[in-house]
Amino acid sequence: MIAKVAKKKTLARKSSAKKGKPNKQKSAKGEMYAGLVAQLRSLLKGEYDFIANAANFSALVYHSLPDVNWAGFYLLQEDDLVLGPFQGKPACVRIPMGKGVCGFAAKQGETVIVPNVHEFPGHIACDSASNAEIVIPLFDGERVLGVFDVDSTVLKRFDDRDAEGLNEMVTVLVAHEEGLDE
Ligand code: SME
Repeated sequence: MIAKVAKKKTLARKSSAKKGKPNKQKSAKGEMYAGLVAQLRSLLKGEYDFIANAANFSALVYHSLPDVNWAGFYLLQEDDLVLGPFQGKPACVRIPMGKGVCGFAAKQGETVIVPNVHEFPGHIACDSASNAEIVIPLFDGERVLGVFDVDSTVLKRFDDRDAEGLNEMVTVLVAHEEGLDE
């Protein structure tokens, strides 16, 4: 499998429907993301500057998720995704819409899980140590605002629980910026 496109609304069903009983590792992940969502809400409280909040968001993910070597935002400006707040090594600044994993996720408007980046046609290697990646689009209604990208040195690092948890986190961030959580 080169990449998996996970539709936001079906993630919860997809991750639990296959197995008859709860998977211990997956529920531990679910609990971890619930904790991260709570920490995120507390970090966002009373602050509406997007750059500040997105910077703390990246730091929270980078320092909380195991085996992550890069976590950050690319924000859509005209037809390019432009590097935003991130944690990790310096990265490519501009990604044309449709290019790389980030551009693909932004164009499709869907979360993309890449178990092995070396098998993804057009993957943009910012850090040669990266082996797996997950990219979550940010939406304002139907409009894509950008993406949140997480890289790992570990093959097959990300699964549906990561997609679900990270989608919840970016949804909390965007809703907060839009004042929808008041
Ligand atoms: N790998 C990404 C580029 C961004 S870096 O991973 C930080 C891509 O293919 O779009």
